[in-house]
Amino acid sequence: MSTVPLGYLDAAGRRADIVLPLTWFTLIVSVLVCLIIAALLWIGVRRRRSPATGDIRSVPIQRGGDGLRWISLGLTISAVPLLVSLVWTMVALAKASGPPSDPALTLDVTGHQWWWEVRYNSAQPAEIFTTANEIHIPAGVPILVRLHGGDVIHSFWIPKLSGKTDTIPGQTNLSWMQAGSPGRYYGACTEYCGAQHANMGLEVVAQSQPDFDQWRAAQLDAAREPASESQIRGRGLVEYRCGLCHQVRGTRAGAVSAPDLTHVMSRRMLASGTVPNTPGNLAAWIQNAQALKPGSLMPNQYLTGEQLSDVLAYLETLK
Ligand code: CUA
Repeated sequence: MSTVPLGYLDAAGRRADIVLPLTWFTLIVSVLVCLIIAALLWIGVRRRRSPATGDIRSVPIQRGGDGLRWISLGLTISAVPLLVSLVWTMVALAKASGPPSDPALTLDVTGHQWWWEVRYNSAQPAEIFTTANEIHIPAGVPILVRLHGGDVIHSFWIPKLSGKTDTIPGQTNLSWMQAGSPGRYYGACTEYCGAQHANMGLEVVAQSQPDFDQWRAAQLDAAREPASESQIRGRGLVEYRCGLCHQVRGTRAGAVSAPDLTHVMSRRMLASGTVPNTPGNLAAWIQNAQALKPGSLMPNQYLTGEQLSDVLAYLETLK
């Protein structure tokens, strides 16, 4: 597999496998057409040298009888790949439009400025939970993704797994994906949606079924109780300040307009793929989010040094 994170010239799942050969076909035909046209032009220019006088008007216009023959030939040659790509596209679209079998899991993904809300559905209400930006799925089974728009139009794209589908406010669009094997697959918002469109990444983590079940069970847990004095003070601050937008299940922080932080330390990246989730970046994000991601809805916090270390001590427990 190539190391280009958003490269779409290889595939890692059933849905992308359907589209990949068509992508290569179209690419190769397009390159060939460009080369052939360039070659013909070159030949034409070389043959049609103006006569010794150099006066273009003295070149006789020939009306040979074979002009139409060339046009028919050109039309026929270009019609064949066009027809092939038309039929192929129809077939690929039909195959890729829906999951091949009943989805093993249904996710509700909502695009927000500028992050992804991910809701795991279940027939058991107690097993429903929400996370952000990092989507874990079991490998080898089809996953249905219902896409919603939180504010403006975004577009959900995991190149190696799934094509682009817009998230539109007031409308539910369906997408699906299936990872062939465990791994990390990167995605991005692919519809311009404002200042931080470029910082609206996401990751799909495909896992074996046991690993996924373990992850899911851990995500269902409420936040653990703080142990140290500092962590207890930190929880108070998180409830009082972060809790106006964020949720930490099991605490008084219960707002849902920003990413759920109940297990924020289990995620690899912060701020929707903007920076790796390290203690330093987390501190920088809390104090000065506007420097990392100008225009985002996360306000700078201006905590005192002690408050910041308490908040960090508590957040570190949210694994
Ligand atoms: Cu969201 Cu671009």
